[in-house]
Amino acid sequence: MVDPCSIVIFGASGDLTARKLIPAFYHLHKEKQMPPDFRIIGFARRDKTDDSWRVELRQALDEFSRTKPVDEDVWKDFSQHIFYCMGDITDNAAYEKLEKQLSSFGKEPLRKNILFYLATSPSQFAIVAEQVHRVGLLQKNGAGSWQRLVIEKPFGHDLESAHQLNAELTRFANEQQVFRIDHYLGKETVQNILMFRFSNAVFERLWNRDSVDHVQITVSEKLGVGPRGGYYEEAGALRDMVQNHLLQVLSLVAMEPPVSLDAEPVRDEKVKLLKSIRSLDREDVAKQVVRGQYFAGTVDGELRPGYRQEPKVKPDSNVETYVALELFIDNWRWSGVPFYLRTGKNLPLSASEVRVQFRPTPHVLFAAQCGQKLDPNSLTLRLQPNEGITLRFNGKVPGTSLAVRPVRMHFSYDSEFGAYTPEAYERLLLEAMAGDAALFIRRDEVETAWKIVDSIRKAWEGKPLSNREFYSAGTWGPVAADDLLAQTGHAWREPVVVK
Ligand code: BG6
Repeated sequence: MVDPCSIVIFGASGDLTARKLIPAFYHLHKEKQMPPDFRIIGFARRDKTDDSWRVELRQALDEFSRTKPVDEDVWKDFSQHIFYCMGDITDNAAYEKLEKQLSSFGKEPLRKNILFYLATSPSQFAIVAEQVHRVGLLQKNGAGSWQRLVIEKPFGHDLESAHQLNAELTRFANEQQVFRIDHYLGKETVQNILMFRFSNAVFERLWNRDSVDHVQITVSEKLGVGPRGGYYEEAGALRDMVQNHLLQVLSLVAMEPPVSLDAEPVRDEKVKLLKSIRSLDREDVAKQVVRGQYFAGTVDGELRPGYRQEPKVKPDSNVETYVALELFIDNWRWSGVPFYLRTGKNLPLSASEVRVQFRPTPHVLFAAQCGQKLDPNSLTLRLQPNEGITLRFNGKVPGTSLAVRPVRMHFSYDSEFGAYTPEAYERLLLEAMAGDAALFIRRDEVETAWKIVDSIRKAWEGKPLSNREFYSAGTWGPVAADDLLAQTGHAWREPVVVK
């Protein structure tokens, strides 16, 4: 059971609160998973009252709730837990007001157990931490109570800035109080990676260099950059997706079994894995990393502008909207096995999946009848959408002639468990209130991931994109990405929807 607590959302007027946080808390409340007593306080600059904010949130919930219609009785009860505190993040007096508001609830746990959700720009994280500490709401060693800071990426823009941010945050809180969100870790299918690997004897035996030929991790998106040009110009696909989501998925796929599922052992193994990724110098980057940028094209029959024509994007921008990498993990399990990662915007499909491709058979018994090459066995963990797991192997085509064809065995979440899939934020917020940090990113994970990303950025610095690095919106990325795999005789496999 989670302790009674207050949740204070800084930057509460933003999109995240309306689209993700409030719908997640509402569902947790609906499913009776919220603590026996709780308050949610939105802290923001705009002039609002508790009531006007509730009305606004209700409208947002009608739009963004994953279950519709909104349950009137649940909302009536839930909304009574919501309050608003008007204030400027840089204003001392606002924090004194916040402190008074928390005290006015008249119950000690609601004043002492606090989840601070920093839905603000990262440049304000340190200010908020300092201010809530100053008014006594955040303590490093609160005996019999807890306070936690929940923050979202970007955690800096390179190793140095991440280091500085981490140092600032841990001036006022211990590392154990800092909960860094990567929403991929809140996805059921991403959590299932460890469950699948370590609760099945069959597959884990094959999960190594003896049996695996290579691994492909794809996170493709149909959406373009659209209105997020301003942010994206500073980020690019490498910082926006690879530094966090892709490297997180990779570490879960490749890490060693942790000694337990507690936060530290799990994160120790992830960090160990990230540290075993072979570092890339300038020459390696040229050979092993491909960036791309989309130009105008058609996705699903809809004409999309080129990246350079998107609002707030420089007309000669070299920012990448696509990245593909070949990484090697220098350890006993994975030595010599390439891990191919790719992500991009304006691709033909939105699909996230991990495809483990196994080694070919040592000899093809049916070569005379079917040719020298058999389709290699593969196991695909489909993270989203059409969540499921597919094993692909070869089978005899029925009939008198000897013909072989790839066939599939498929597990689908929907048909097995029904369509119920909680939103990533529901799980993450619940874990943050419960104080379990296993699904959150530790400081050394962030910093190790930045080291990898920084080495790539350094090699790209000052180099304009070449012709082979552009791709038309609606295609699977630049030709250079196909060349990357062709060097080793491999090819990207298009995500396939199996129902
Ligand atoms: C975010 C990125 O972290 O993840 C976005 O900033 C991206 O650019 C999004 O679209 C993808 O998340 P999901 O859950 O839709 O795969």
